[in-house]
Amino acid sequence: MMLYDGKPVNFTRFKNLPPYPFERMRALLGGITPLDTSAGLNMSLGEPKHKVPDFVTDILHRERASYNKYPPIQGTTQWQAAVAGWVTRRNNLKPGVVTADHLVPLCGSREGLFSIGLAVINRRKNGQIPLVLSPNPFYQPYAGAALCAGAETIYVSADMNGMPDYAALPEEILARTALAFICNPSNPEGRIAGRNYLAKMIQLARKYDFTLASDECYSEIYDDVPPVGMLDVCYQLSRQGQGSRDHPFQNVVVFNSLSKRSNLAGLRSGFMAGDPKIVSELLRMRPYGGSPLPLPIQAASAAAWDDEAHVSLSRKLYGQKFDLAEKYLSGKFSFTRPAGGFCLWLEVGCGEEACRKLWQMAGIKTLPGVYLARDDEDGRNVGAPYIRLVLVHDNDLLEPALEKIAITL
Ligand SMILES: Cc1ncc(COP(=O)(O)O)c(C=O)c1O
Repeated sequence: MMLYDGKPVNFTRFKNLPPYPFERMRALLGGITPLDTSAGLNMSLGEPKHKVPDFVTDILHRERASYNKYPPIQGTTQWQAAVAGWVTRRNNLKPGVVTADHLVPLCGSREGLFSIGLAVINRRKNGQIPLVLSPNPFYQPYAGAALCAGAETIYVSADMNGMPDYAALPEEILARTALAFICNPSNPEGRIAGRNYLAKMIQLARKYDFTLASDECYSEIYDDVPPVGMLDVCYQLSRQGQGSRDHPFQNVVVFNSLSKRSNLAGLRSGFMAGDPKIVSELLRMRPYGGSPLPLPIQAASAAAWDDEAHVSLSRKLYGQKFDLAEKYLSGKFSFTRPAGGFCLWLEVGCGEEACRKLWQMAGIKTLPGVYLARDDEDGRNVGAPYIRLVLVHDNDLLEPALEKIAITL
């Protein structure tokens, strides 16, 4: 038990949240000294290593005098125009469909994925404790969103098509659902959802009146085919007469950020876009507890959303990393080349054991898959046989590490 001034700490709010995966990994590896670090690499953290675009640092410097101002919560008109423009182009929307009323600036998408729960989950749904649907394995803030909003979470593993099929859940669960997360491309598996699946999820959200939150932060890192955006599918449905033409994004919001797309994880700049009713609810909450994006960051972000050259270059470099992974890991550990994102999800028997071994033998850090998933009712954890590792480092560091992984495991 933790003690403070000799007394037990009795906060219970977060007792159902396990320590974050990186903390668990550090505990797992604590006290082990690697025997060989010649190919040592931290492949556990999804932090892009490609260069920060020069124009971003130039703008941050140029706009530095405005750090003395409180920035607008809903974004500057320049930020709104750039993000609306990008969302429009990326989702094949008619210009003018996305306006400022459809957007919320976020300090990275994580805080939005967390706070959306507080904005859209009522204390009761149809007289019962509300539910949140989450993929399993999943990006951990989804669990925080549910817990802090007083909801329970139903974790749903991917079906044969690689995505969680929420439509197959029993009626009584769907009737209690207030919020459902989809991660597309999926982290950690690197799968991409098809148009039909997304359409089915949108229709389900409307039928049972829950918020569908699509986490698309890996959308610009893909192998061959760009992932279809959730707002693209909403718009197509509305043009086919499904859903309102005036409100094509009803019940749906998407999250994206510059962290992965533009190698700007430290800038903390993202957005939520979609249903104006949900947007206005989040904007109503944010003056009380949200953080606006500093003005220089809004200016630099606008320029980043307007530019695709640095994104295509990055995508090409990720393609080379996928090639290297394929060279060393193809045919091993159920390797599949990621369709999107930059994670590998390798089936290694026992993920924790493999993680310890890779650290001890080769100084390579990976994440045990068990930390990214929750146990099912039978106590089985779908992530347990896996490790997750990220393809973010330059090729000269990555290649020896991949070769070492293939030899060591
Ligand atoms: C699936 C997924 N969603 C969202 C995020 C949040 O990224 P950020 O807050 O930097 O936008 C991450 C970060 O690793 C992620 O892996």
